[in-house]
Amino acid sequence: MLKDQFGRIHNYLRISLTDDCNFRCLYCMPNEKISCLPGSQIMQPHEILKLAETFVNLGVNKIRLTGGEPLVRNGFGQILDELAQLPVELTITTNGFLLKRYLPNLLDAGVKSINVSLDALDPKRFAAVTQRNHFQMVWDNIMLLLQNNIRVKINTVAMAGLIEHELFDFIELTRDLPLHVRFIEFMPFNLNDWKSSKVITADHLLQQTQSRYKIVKLKDEPHATAKKYKIPDHKGTIAFITTMSDHFCEECNRIRLTADGKLKNCIFSSEETDLLTALRKGQAIEPLIHKGLYSKHRALGGQFDQNYKLLNPEALKNRSMISIGG
Ligand code: GTP
Ligand code: 5AD
Ligand code: SF4
Repeated sequence: MLKDQFGRIHNYLRISLTDDCNFRCLYCMPNEKISCLPGSQIMQPHEILKLAETFVNLGVNKIRLTGGEPLVRNGFGQILDELAQLPVELTITTNGFLLKRYLPNLLDAGVKSINVSLDALDPKRFAAVTQRNHFQMVWDNIMLLLQNNIRVKINTVAMAGLIEHELFDFIELTRDLPLHVRFIEFMPFNLNDWKSSKVITADHLLQQTQSRYKIVKLKDEPHATAKKYKIPDHKGTIAFITTMSDHFCEECNRIRLTADGKLKNCIFSSEETDLLTALRKGQAIEPLIHKGLYSKHRALGGQFDQNYKLLNPEALKNRSMISIGG
């Protein structure tokens, strides 16, 4: 079992397959970023499988594939097929652009639920955030997932200047479609130009929502990042991911593996454990995983307290989101 010093049991592994992406979302990839990790430094399919098996032997029963954008990873189909042989719930978080190409693989692998990033419903605004003119493709692919009975959670980063225009449009999506829209408080990562003034809190969005809709609180899934609500008669749900205003670290069950094979015990942790080099040297991996997890901080990687307004983003020692994978 994977337990940290606070007794939290970790059964959910997020594996980043690449730090590359076919979009350039403003909140994720720094402008300075021009090159990604060389092939020799990233985990090869057999290494991903070997490390994933080790985690499964230690109690992991859910694996989420992330990026960058996981679907741009060479050999994504093969990696997915191999991981699908493990006794885990397998899923991905994606920008949605390549979903049509990989739908057969995802269905074959038994993927039942996919999280898709979608920060704007207006194609011009979508293009401004992602720096790509691909709204229609992403939207069509979301519809394709629904047609194939895949549960879809939409991830919408709530940034000032953006969400104000579209909050109600996103909520309206849930009226006739079984979509689960999650508004995410903007989080600070290396070079993503985070400022507290750009954070729109869940409380604020909730008040706005209540000014127009009658909403009902739903029971949250265990260990969930999101606080869930429903508007009676709507087919879908809305939810808020409140990392900045009300973190949910007490129940954290997540552990991360970066594309270059480093164990990260928290999305905000500066400390990493190099599992890939150890694997390549033939060293034992399990003790390294236990040690890397044990030192996990109580909350937010020990990097900031709950008052996000006092946070100095320059002082954070972390990667960019593009190479963490969320
Ligand atoms: P589910 O497995 O469906 O609950 O997905 P998820 O919310 O864990 O994952 P997803 O990749 O869709 O991420 C949604 C948002 O939650 C992103 O902004 C992530 O960065 C954030 N997130 C995911 N895991 C964590 C976490 O452990 N801590 C914090 N603070 N944020 C997280
Ligand atoms: N703050 C909050 N959420 C973010 N995401 C990416 N960068 C940030 C950020 N700075 C979300 C995207 C993606 C998920 C993996 O992380 O919505 O779907
Ligand atoms: Fe877990 Fe760190 Fe996220 Fe808190 S911030 S929920 S400890 S990964």
